[in-house]
Amino acid sequence: MFQRLKTWFAKAPAQPVQQLAADNIPQHIAIIMDGNGRWAKKRGLPRMAGHHSGMKTVKRITMEANRLGVKYLTLYAFSTENWKRPKDEVEFLMKLPQEFLSIELKELIENNVQVRMMGLRENLPAHTLSAVEEAIQRTKNNTGLVLNFALNYGSRKEMIEAVRHIGEEIQSGRLKPEDINDSHMNEALLSSGLPDPDLLIRTSGELRLSNFMLWQLAYSELWFTDVYWPEFTEHHFHEAVSEYQRRARRYGGL
Ligand code: IPE
Ligand code: IPE
Ligand code: MG
Repeated sequence: MFQRLKTWFAKAPAQPVQQLAADNIPQHIAIIMDGNGRWAKKRGLPRMAGHHSGMKTVKRITMEANRLGVKYLTLYAFSTENWKRPKDEVEFLMKLPQEFLSIELKELIENNVQVRMMGLRENLPAHTLSAVEEAIQRTKNNTGLVLNFALNYGSRKEMIEAVRHIGEEIQSGRLKPEDINDSHMNEALLSSGLPDPDLLIRTSGELRLSNFMLWQLAYSELWFTDVYWPEFTEHHFHEAVSEYQRRARRYGGL
């Protein structure tokens, strides 16, 4: 009996959902999932073990976000700068989406999750892209949580592409420079169709954005933790949402 109780407590989120205000759940949460390598190093394991373990956190946090009623969850999985890493690490990271989806896609579908990708499709290996495209295709009519993977994503490249697109609109006479406004940028960005993140979480103690959603995070609430991504739990996730609910968002007003 005692053993059973202990197991239950180990599985249950440490902070019950009831303590979060159900009417103030962030609509869009973005996460910079950082610290996989350091988590592994701390345990004397290869960096890849950290990435592998981080995949389990992706699953747990996705399910919890869905349960809380978050509408969009954007996860920074691979940046346009991460290509600088050693070839074997890049290759390993490029195999993770396939592995993740081959294990989890069924359950994501059962939970009405819609998978999307935000990033530059060029340069991604065919096997990575086809796994992601299959998941997008098979979940496109789902109406629950939108699980948006930022894969080969970089904000500066994204903005340069957006500006190029707007430039072409001007050159062709479809748009006048004086008419450019926020919505032209929003539509030209890779995040087109998504609301701006309400809450940004970064794990691993780094206090920077690392080229992530520079335009979209203009008025997001930022929350940082020293916890490495593989050890990030539902409890930490609740902590972040709970802190978000205590913030006053003023958008420059009073
Ligand atoms: C985050 O963990 C995953 C990716 C960037 C792909 P890291 O691999 O950056 O881990 P650290 O920051 O070196 O510990
Ligand atoms: C940001 O983490 C990118 C992802 C989490 C995918 P990095 O580990 O690449 O960031 P830096 O190099 O510490 O800024
Ligand atoms: Mg890192």
